[in-house]
Amino acid sequence: MIVLGIETSCDETSAALLVDGRAVSNVISSQLIHSAYGGVVPELASRAHQRLIIQVVREALAGGGVKKEEINGIAATQGPGLVGALLVGLSFGKALAYGLGVPFTAINHLEGHLYSVFLEEDVPAYPYLALVVSGGHTMLVHVEAPFRHIVLGETRDDAAGEAFDKVAKMLGLGYPGGPAIDRLGAEGDPGAVRFPRSFLEEGTLDFSFSGIKTSVLYYLRREGLGESGAARTLLERKKMADICASFQAAIVDVLVARTMSAALRLGLADIALVGGVSANSSLRRTLRDEAGKRALRVFTPRSEYCMDNGAMIGYVGWMRLVRGLTSAYETPAVAYLDLAGIAS
Ligand code: KG4
Ligand code: ZN
Repeated sequence: MIVLGIETSCDETSAALLVDGRAVSNVISSQLIHSAYGGVVPELASRAHQRLIIQVVREALAGGGVKKEEINGIAATQGPGLVGALLVGLSFGKALAYGLGVPFTAINHLEGHLYSVFLEEDVPAYPYLALVVSGGHTMLVHVEAPFRHIVLGETRDDAAGEAFDKVAKMLGLGYPGGPAIDRLGAEGDPGAVRFPRSFLEEGTLDFSFSGIKTSVLYYLRREGLGESGAARTLLERKKMADICASFQAAIVDVLVARTMSAALRLGLADIALVGGVSANSSLRRTLRDEAGKRALRVFTPRSEYCMDNGAMIGYVGWMRLVRGLTSAYETPAVAYLDLAGIAS
């Protein structure tokens, strides 16, 4: 079965081809236009998706060596995400499916991240624990079986990636901030500044990252470093690297501690680390080290499958289509969609 997967929920326009659940192409066009604004501008994202979608789909087809008439089904992200952005990929997917006379299926973006580990050769065994960390989401999910998943905990305020992006903005490091903090933090001392770890109340598997972010802001003010791009010119590189490393350590500590307690509490041996923030080198290393001590296994897809991408949407599309699950053409784009499934 040949499935075309389309993703346009935020600022990546992406399309991929899957043959029997294996990705044979995955084209991702990241919209660089937003960096000038320090964050994603929804209207600009929608327009860029419109401009890029045909070219991206064409490249995905060419990359997979497939003609559009050979496609057996089409999957596109329904939500969560920016409605205007989602509408571009969703409408395009429906129209192409209608034109080709093939089934269409709408996909929950979070399920895309959750099952993205299966795009690799080495896969976890069910049931497994997934830590989904991205710009919009931070959640721990118990994946019992295909399409049977329970959210164990999630962020009560900022997502981990959002905290990275906001702190990077305070430091004048640009958008997206995660990769910049990761790079600069590698030169710094993670013990230089002790930012607070927020573990909330006893027993919860929820997260909170806004306190860590605010304490970086107060630290910068206390040190007389301002709270915007101005900091860049005032801070020496070493000091900046120390702040990045210390902030990153606080986020990673909380993510890893929560993941370990969830895995131990539920007796899960396999952990999937997915979403854009899973590219973070300190998070990958620390989670692997801590899991290794307890004989648990960590699975992380390559970075093109961690960031927002069409392959993970096509994969869930394939999972649905082989089970005969399709979506009506009336299926709407939905900004706030939880992990319960597909809204119609
Ligand atoms: O999954 P993703 O591409 O999009 C969403 O669904 O949000 O994740 C993007 C997020 C951004 O917040 C970005 O700063 C963060 O992932 N990110 C990182 C790293 N690479 C990307 N955060 C920390 N360290 C990184 N190396
Ligand atoms: Zn995402």
